[in-house]
Amino acid sequence: MRTALPTHTQTSPLTARRNGPLKGRARVPGDKSISIRALILGALTVGETRISGLLEGEDVLNTAQTLRALGGRLERLGGGAWRVHGVGVAGFAEPAEKLDFGNSGTGCRLMLGAVAGCPITATFDGDASLRKRPMRRILEPLEHIGARTLSSADGLLPLTLAGARDPIPTVFAPKVASAQLKSAVLLAALSAPGETTIVEREATRDHTEKMLAHFGAQIRAEPEGASGRRITLVGQPELVPAPIVVPADPSSAAFPLIAALLVPGSEVILEGVMMNPLRTGLLATLAEMGASVERLNVRNEGGEEVADLRVRGCPLRGVEVPAARAPSMIDEYPVLAVAASFAEGTTIMRGLKELRVKESDRLAATAALLRVNGVEAEIDGDDLIVQGSGRAAGGGLVTTHMDHRIAMSALVMGLASDKPVAIDDAAFIATSFPGFVELMCSLGAELAE
Ligand code: S3P
Repeated sequence: MRTALPTHTQTSPLTARRNGPLKGRARVPGDKSISIRALILGALTVGETRISGLLEGEDVLNTAQTLRALGGRLERLGGGAWRVHGVGVAGFAEPAEKLDFGNSGTGCRLMLGAVAGCPITATFDGDASLRKRPMRRILEPLEHIGARTLSSADGLLPLTLAGARDPIPTVFAPKVASAQLKSAVLLAALSAPGETTIVEREATRDHTEKMLAHFGAQIRAEPEGASGRRITLVGQPELVPAPIVVPADPSSAAFPLIAALLVPGSEVILEGVMMNPLRTGLLATLAEMGASVERLNVRNEGGEEVADLRVRGCPLRGVEVPAARAPSMIDEYPVLAVAASFAEGTTIMRGLKELRVKESDRLAATAALLRVNGVEAEIDGDDLIVQGSGRAAGGGLVTTHMDHRIAMSALVMGLASDKPVAIDDAAFIATSFPGFVELMCSLGAELAE
């Protein structure tokens, strides 16, 4: 079943260099997690869901394409406005072709869950990065619900999944803190009769739960232990379409935000950034580092708290980031490590095991990004330790390993380091942040081939 890895041949190198303070206002694109969920859940309703502010990045567009292959009707009306005609819970048709998720772990894992609850067979595939990422952790609970993995080498893509004919509800306590894993089980459990319960030791982003409630499902979440949650979903709901407004992605906002903090004299306002407390670990950490980030005009948009963030360039100090904070800032560690390079003193980021299975081995790639630019960085077990000295030499060529967040983090470093920083390939930035280069340049950054 295993075929040659799809290769990415057209690389686009890019270099960032220091160019005076960053100034102005900008709005980063819509949240990736919410965008992917809006399309999938919209496709599981009966009727028409309108979405505004959808992220039109490649990860989301690939997920849209797979939903079309399964019988959903998805139309782009323009500028982030989309219309989704759903097929109802368990209503997917068997696809004629394999489902190709490109670089998107979230799209693939959530759709494994959605397909697991339907009596169809589908083959899942992705690019060379996605083909290295573990799927067994998702397949195991889906098999408990009644799905069958027909073929998969070592729990990796490409894999073929036969959805459950008679899905059964389950009680599941994931071993890893992963919103993708939780969401896959919830999506599969939609077609099971009775209650499915998920017990999370550490609470992870709750966008699936909130959106299911928004579409009329009976779902409740109670605190569990010190920082966990017990989530109970009543199966076989009729999901009723409801409009979705996608707020700006805090994980994308992290890049211009940290660039503005690091470039002296900068003042930038980032508009409408989602402030869901399960996504704001970076802001908590930056506050401890002494950063100047103000939350202005705090308001509610589409069921989420959002704020305009005013960021000013300022000196930072090293801190210790506890492992318990990791789920609320899991995607922000590479760019936090860049900020830590420019801080005074040591920053210790604890409990980063999950970074090893992202779009790349992000723990290794982040340490390498720092070292090639003259910053002392060490991996100790699952911890990353950065020796900040208030500046970074720069001058390195960073290997991005098909990972959008490594690419953007390296470019942020180059905007503040003594010498320019180059990356081997900017192409994957478009998976989550189309328009990144234009947005950064509009604030005064110098990014060029
Ligand atoms: C996501 C969950 C996180 C995160 C990813 C998006 C989601 O992954 O890294 O970018 O939308 O559920 P894990 O659930 O594997 O931690």
